[in-house]
Formats: sequence, C-alpha cells, structure tokens
Amino acid sequence: MAFIDISAVSKIFGNTRILENINLDIEHGQFVVFVGPSGCGKSTLLRMISGLEDVSAGTISIENEVVNDVEPALRGVAMVFQSYALYPHMTTFQNVSFGLRMAHKTAEFIAARVQQATGILQLDKLLERKPGQLSGGQKQRVAIGRAIVREPRVFLFDEPLSNLDAELRVQMRAELMDLHRRLGTTMIYVTHDQVEAMTLADKMVVMSGGRIQQAGAPLVLYDDPDNQFVAGFVGSPKMNFLPATLVGADATGVRLTGIGGGGNAVLPIVGITVAAGPVTIGIRPEHLRLVTEGATSPECLVLEGRVAIVEELGAESFVHLDLPDSTRVTLRAGRDAGRIGHTARVALDLERALLFAADGLRLRGRGLVQQ
Ligand SMILES: Nc1ncnc2c1ncn2[C@@H]1O[C@H](COP(=O)(O)OP(=O)(O)OP(=O)(O)O)[C@@H](O)[C@H]1O
Ligand SMILES: [Mg+2]
Repeated sequence: MAFIDISAVSKIFGNTRILENINLDIEHGQFVVFVGPSGCGKSTLLRMISGLEDVSAGTISIENEVVNDVEPALRGVAMVFQSYALYPHMTTFQNVSFGLRMAHKTAEFIAARVQQATGILQLDKLLERKPGQLSGGQKQRVAIGRAIVREPRVFLFDEPLSNLDAELRVQMRAELMDLHRRLGTTMIYVTHDQVEAMTLADKMVVMSGGRIQQAGAPLVLYDDPDNQFVAGFVGSPKMNFLPATLVGADATGVRLTGIGGGGNAVLPIVGITVAAGPVTIGIRPEHLRLVTEGATSPECLVLEGRVAIVEELGAESFVHLDLPDSTRVTLRAGRDAGRIGHTARVALDLERALLFAADGLRLRGRGLVQQ
C-alpha cells in the first residue's frame, strides 16, 4: 500500500457534491501538487487529509492506518496556510515553538528544535521580531518553521506563496524544493498556478469539477494528456486547439478536413475507433513554425493566417495568428518574427499533434504510424 492512500473519497457539502470518487496514491517522500482552477476542491481534499474536514465517503489511510476518524492533531500532519496564521503578539521564537510549548516539551527540547528549524529557514537573526516587523517571505518562513518543529510525517501546504510578489515566489519556490530535498518528508502542496505545479511536483494532480483529471509526472502530463482539459491547463503558452472534422481512418492515419477553416491532413495516428464527425487537434506552440512560400515538408500541414499579436520577450517572441475560421493559434519564434496585420504561413508538425474527441477525451488509438 502507498504511504498515503486515498480511496473512493467523496465530499458532500449540504446537497452539493464537491469531490467525486477521488483515488490517489502518494509514496513516501513524494512532493505532490494539487492544481486546478478556483473552486475545484483542492483545499477541501487537503483539509480532509489534515482532518480539518470530514470525509463523506471513502477512506484516507496514512501508513496503512485509516485516519478518517483520527483527530487532526494525532495524524502526524502539519499544515501551512496561505494566510500564515501567525499570532501577531508573539515573536518568531514564540510562534515557531507554540505547538511544542502547548505539548509541554522541555525548554531544552524546544530550544534545540527551534534552532534547527530556524537555521534551515534562515530565521535565526529574526527570533525576537513580531510578525508586524517581518516581510511577507519571512512570515511565510515562520509559518513553515512552526510546521517543521513538529517533525510531521506529512507537510500540507495550501497556496503558501500566493501572497508574495512574483520575485519572492520564485525564491521561496526554490527554498521549498531545497527544504524537501533536505528533510525528505512527504509534501502535499496546493496551488492554482500550473507553472508552480510543474516546477515543484514529483507527481502533479490536475483537478477540475471535483474530479482528478489526471495524475502523474509533470512532463508526462505535458506530453501525454488524457483529455483536453489537462492538455490546455498544463503548459504556457497554452496548447493550441483547432477544430476539424474526422472523415475517415485507415492504416496511414486519421483523415481530417476543415482544419483552421479549410486545411486537410492525415494525422499519423492508427487504431482510432470513433465515428466521423467533429474532433479537435491539439498542438503545442513549439510544434508550429512560420514558413516562407514553398518551404514545406510532407509531415507538416501549412495554413495561412493573419498576425494578430506579437509578444516580444527578448530572446524569443510569441506570435498569435488568426486562421481563416478565426481560430487563434500561438507559436514561439525568434525576434522580428511577424508584423501585426500581415499574412503569415504556419507549418504544423502533424507528428506532434494530439487528437481529442468532441467530449474532450484524448483519442490515442494505438499510437503513431510506424514509418
Ligand atoms: N464549508 C463549505 N460549505 C459549503 N461549500 C463549501 C465549503 N467549503 C468549500 N465549499 C465549496 O466547495 C468547492 C471547493 O472549494 P475549495 O475551497 O476546495 O476549492 P479550491 O480548489 O481550493 O479553490 P481555490 O483555488 O479558490 O482556493 C467550492 O465550490 C466551494 O464553494
Ligand atoms: Mg483553495
């Protein structure tokens, strides 16, 4: 059994089902990130693991023990909140040591634990300050210190960095990764920022509408999404989606028409079992490129579009093109790649394109045609 095992868990508030049949394994020492849009149930799931929220159905086990009815304080988990939840009248030392003092630990024990935690978090020079005299990042470190001294078997973080400015977030993100490496403790982290999720996670759990849409290593979700939601949620700039009509499938692949308002192509995916009709092609910005007249290759589909926006980022630019059916696609290019209002030709690398059914499910078939 996994270190944490979440099995057929649901959550109902009043008459509303918030989480539906959640199944998830978390291994010892994993850094797991729950990510998804606002209201999808991330905090609720985290709070059920912590014991702050009841489980309506199913079981949550930690180290082979079902904890559904175990008091939060006895679960061996420590939670760090977005709001820090520090006591304003207490110093850093008092805030960090609060739980240990409540548990009547000896002064030596407390001093040693606090020294260790504040050393790791570089808070040792701020022990006498109160929260009002600390920056946002320092306050967040105090909140993490308070969790560390309890030596929990699982850390739970609910959007701990969302009150920090962009630069500090990146810095704290690196510190959290370092902390995880040093402590080796299992961590579960909630965010709605997919970049944060991708950079931190060993296992990324994409949630939407109260369900897990897909869980796995970030790059597996990036390259091989199960559905259009995951495909569109993971990655920035987003995956491009082009409506098309499936007209047939044979040993060479899937025949599509009406791509971007007129293009025809054979996607080299075999073994698709779906009726003819509307489908969606998904293709990442890095698999599109601008081409000049005549420069095409057989595995590419070339479409014409009008340059709508060019975002110059220095080393590269994002070019947004409107296709004849007004589908907007984005691609990565170098400097001076396009002029707004001009017509441009874009080549789609069909070997990297994904296919989705009308209901959003990925059509994998048996994979790519072997050349
Ligand atoms: N105590 C409650 N009673 C009724 N509904 C609740 C309660 N707590 C949360 N909800 C509802 O459950 C859903 C999930 O809430 P939750 O806080 O888990 O979302 P979230 O994914 O953490 O969102 P966010 O990214 O905004 O923090 C929301 O629709 C919310 O309104
Ligand atoms: Mg939340």
